[in-house]
Amino acid sequence: MTTRSDELLQIFEEYDASAAKKLKTDGPKKKSLWEEDFEVKWPAMPVNAVGAKRVSDLLECKPNKLPGPDFEMPMFDREQSWPEYVQVHIPSPDEADIEHYVMPIEAAYWVCYALRVNKPFFCSGVKGCGKSTLPKRICALLNWPFIRKQSAKDLDSSEFFGQWKAEEGNTVFVPGDLPQAAVMGAVFLIDEISNLPPELHPALHQVAEKGGRIYLNSQAGDVETKIVELAETFRLGASDNTRGQGDSRGHYSGTDVMNSATMDRFRVMVVMDYMDRKLEKKVLKNTVPGVTDLLADKMLNVAARVRAAYSAGDLSDTLSMRPLIEWAEKAILTHDIMGSLTMTMLNKIESESERKEIESYVQASFGGLLNEK
Ligand SMILES: Nc1ncnc2c1ncn2[C@@H]1O[C@H](COP(=O)(O)OP(=O)(O)O)[C@@H](O)[C@H]1O
Ligand SMILES: [Mg+2]
Repeated sequence: MTTRSDELLQIFEEYDASAAKKLKTDGPKKKSLWEEDFEVKWPAMPVNAVGAKRVSDLLECKPNKLPGPDFEMPMFDREQSWPEYVQVHIPSPDEADIEHYVMPIEAAYWVCYALRVNKPFFCSGVKGCGKSTLPKRICALLNWPFIRKQSAKDLDSSEFFGQWKAEEGNTVFVPGDLPQAAVMGAVFLIDEISNLPPELHPALHQVAEKGGRIYLNSQAGDVETKIVELAETFRLGASDNTRGQGDSRGHYSGTDVMNSATMDRFRVMVVMDYMDRKLEKKVLKNTVPGVTDLLADKMLNVAARVRAAYSAGDLSDTLSMRPLIEWAEKAILTHDIMGSLTMTMLNKIESESERKEIESYVQASFGGLLNEK
């Protein structure tokens, strides 16, 4: 006779067996996005590299602080890697604008990635957040020649590609900055690219493409002589303030909406903002000797309020790193906090109410310390 408890036991056993079977067929294995045992291969190092440096060492941070794996960057040697005429374009780490540069880790990591895998990169962000100096600093640490081309509305394609010039009775074709940088194998940064005449953008397409080359339209002769092959270490970068979208608030006059086909060719898009407060404090203290923790804190309080008001559309100007450094330098020499800010920034603002607003931030942050001489 089967009792009630036998029946229950049988139900449990059946349930257990079906659960065990399900476990066996589905398996406990987690699905993965990545192919098992796939060997990741980074591109080969350039032939003129003399060694390699880990990104974490280059950026002086712990590997676990990087946004991704700790890959290797090529290290070049000034004399061994480059001919003499190229060496003059290698920035030195102690040049004034990059000497005290504090690496913004995420942005620097992705610029390194772009340099490593040879993809054109684009750094965009608010003024003074370190866009132009970032690739220069990286190049200085790797001994990689770096050429920064400032954009302007009156540049024409001959500036980039070259032109005919009279020389000792002959006319000779003088290659422009782009073919020169391409042959040298330099990192070529087109700074403030959205200030370039838009009709120039398509001319840059070919050089930004995989396996790209430069075609010199105005060079005379056979097609062969018009083609410039890109050296293995040539890299293209660009910077601007508007993500290539132009300026809707009138703060960056002269910028245009970039051709979206041109933007597509910049394969690594880095957007930078002001650094976090701790880093900005470090930059201020490193760059301007004599800045105390208290002074830096008070100045950064003002900067935070100015930036918030600017973002909200209540102020027409903001306090970027450049004027902050300038303000600190003047303050250290004169001990006049308000006067120093007035000469650095306030006098550039037309609206009296905005000036008063910023003065009130300074009052609130410094309080009685303002009168300390
Ligand atoms: N991360 C940083 N570390 C140190 N100084 C910085 C940093 N970012 C910006 N600066 C300072 O601000 C100035 C402006 O930087 P820059 O690269 O010209 O800005 P952007 O090109 O974004 O307008 C630099 O000269 C430098 O003194
Ligand atoms: Mg710049």
